[in-house]
Amino acid sequence: TVPTVETDVLIVGSGPAGASAALALSTYGVPNVMVTRYSRLADTPRAHITNQRTMEVLRDLGVEEDVIAQATPQHLMGNTVFCTALAGEELGRLRSWGNEPLVQAAHELASPTRMCDMPQHLMEPVLVNAAIARGSRLRFGTEYLSHEQDADGVTATVRDRLRGDTYTIRAKYLIGADGGRSKVAEDAGLPMGGQMGVAGSINIVFDADLTKYVAHRPATLYWVLAPGATVGGIGAGLVRCVRTWNEWLIVWGYDVDAGPPDLTEEYALSVVRKLIGDDEIPVTIKSSSAWTVNEMYAETYSSGRVFCAGDACHRHPPSNGLGSNTSIQDSYNLAWKLKLVLDGTASPSLLDTYSDERAPVGKQVVTRANQSIGETAPVFEALGGLSPQTPEQLWRNIAARKDATTEAEEQRARLREAIAFKAYEFNAHGVDLNQRYTSAAIVPDGTEDPGFARDPELHFQPSTRPGAKLPHAWLSAGTRNPSTLDLGGNGRFTLITGIGGEPWTEAARILGKEFGLEIATAVIGPGQEYEDPYGDWARLREIGDSGALLVRPDNHVAFRRQDATGDVTAALRDALRQILGRG
Ligand code: FDA
Repeated sequence: TVPTVETDVLIVGSGPAGASAALALSTYGVPNVMVTRYSRLADTPRAHITNQRTMEVLRDLGVEEDVIAQATPQHLMGNTVFCTALAGEELGRLRSWGNEPLVQAAHELASPTRMCDMPQHLMEPVLVNAAIARGSRLRFGTEYLSHEQDADGVTATVRDRLRGDTYTIRAKYLIGADGGRSKVAEDAGLPMGGQMGVAGSINIVFDADLTKYVAHRPATLYWVLAPGATVGGIGAGLVRCVRTWNEWLIVWGYDVDAGPPDLTEEYALSVVRKLIGDDEIPVTIKSSSAWTVNEMYAETYSSGRVFCAGDACHRHPPSNGLGSNTSIQDSYNLAWKLKLVLDGTASPSLLDTYSDERAPVGKQVVTRANQSIGETAPVFEALGGLSPQTPEQLWRNIAARKDATTEAEEQRARLREAIAFKAYEFNAHGVDLNQRYTSAAIVPDGTEDPGFARDPELHFQPSTRPGAKLPHAWLSAGTRNPSTLDLGGNGRFTLITGIGGEPWTEAARILGKEFGLEIATAVIGPGQEYEDPYGDWARLREIGDSGALLVRPDNHVAFRRQDATGDVTAALRDALRQILGRG
């Protein structure tokens, strides 16, 4: 039978992974069709923390400003509060999401972007609208059913949920961005490690003006240590701000073995009342849904012409706010590779590097997020609140910290420490940015892996060693002040050098023609197109003036040389052969 629809890349799912895949592919001029099961995008806030790396990706894809316009800004995100209820006692706060002064400086130094809070029901339209404007074809109400692969492509069978009929879509490649219950990943037989359904959780979305309890300590997350808060869930009760300060999402656990409670409005309201602690506040429940905490990751992200991205590959709780970030970054890694393979510039072997680079990140993210749940326990322990007890006992234990006794002083110290330790969940700058890739699309330069001087989960350490993300430094170009990251991206390779690096720019010109590859060049130095007015770049680049960095379209360094000695054209040619799999 003749397929009804033909395209280069078929994307299943319009969540953060699918929408950003469509956006990147359309930006790079790759024809694509995105199908999604429902006749709408996400209708609940879901993922929200948007980290600097994601903002860099969105900056490159030209939608950073659209996100900033709608997101809650960083300075209103970061007072993570621990309390007995919003109207109850406060147990302590943690400056988080880059709002601790030293971490704030690290954020400023690390990236031209700022993190923000962009709920998923606002993020998806930004990504999808831009994708469609650039050529993506979106089919709502279209459910993926199955696929078959052959030597030239993939034929997927889908169902039109409005008409009720099925038809086929023929594509050269298929991206399964169909979320945590991915049928594409299952059909492709991706090997999965870990476990689903580790704990039970409930999301309750509601409207309530909580200004009087939160505006003086603005935060994205208010953690509530109340009776029952350690059952299932994500470590404690959570009141999350969706829109300042009148739309909210509560996360509350349930015993996964007993199954979810009946999610009546009455039940939802009782949980909301418990966590707010003020029954006078008018509340409108908007929705409630049950979900499970998962700890599962794919060992490989592809099988032949089928690639999975996002929750299809990594399923984990919202702790550390990594869900949609990792999903968007997966697609960004994959899109330029598909483009170069589809236009014949690279061998299909380049696509193997997607899994080699992203699977370790996914596994790390799943592990980190689950570990963070366990690391809330010491906060409860400090209050003597983990063992089963009556609510009265818990309140007495919590009150005991106010006593003028040695035990109470020790308890106060334990509580302070336990809250400060939560920086691994709420201020883990290294988890967000320290992704260093090893794959055939990265050419080692013979230097030793410098490792990390400080805790790699908490602190970002920039490096230009091949595999690392290009470090950010503010440059000047006439009246413009671009970031080094703005020199790269745009779907093309970029060669960065300095004074004396002319052999490199010449080599890039010759080899660009030879390989049919767009290689932008950027010379940084006095009197050059880009200047380094603060000397920041000179401090970060780890190469001499005449050295070179070849940066991939995703702004990861693929090749590095200290200077321009030797046959630079031959060296760059060998590197490109390796990266593009054209050996
Ligand atoms: P995502 O699940 O977003 O998207 C999957 C897409 O595939 C959807 O468009 C879906 O309709 C489509 N699809 C699925 N099967 C299909 C099929 N057979 N055919 C066609 N289309 C199909 N994270 C967080 O950090 N904080 C939070 O509070 C929450 N809360 C939350 C609530 C709920 C209800 C969910 C489902 C998820 C969360 N998350 C979350 C997780 C977060 O939403 C998640 O990490 C990202 O959305 C992952 O993005 P993906 O694009 O990979 O999948």
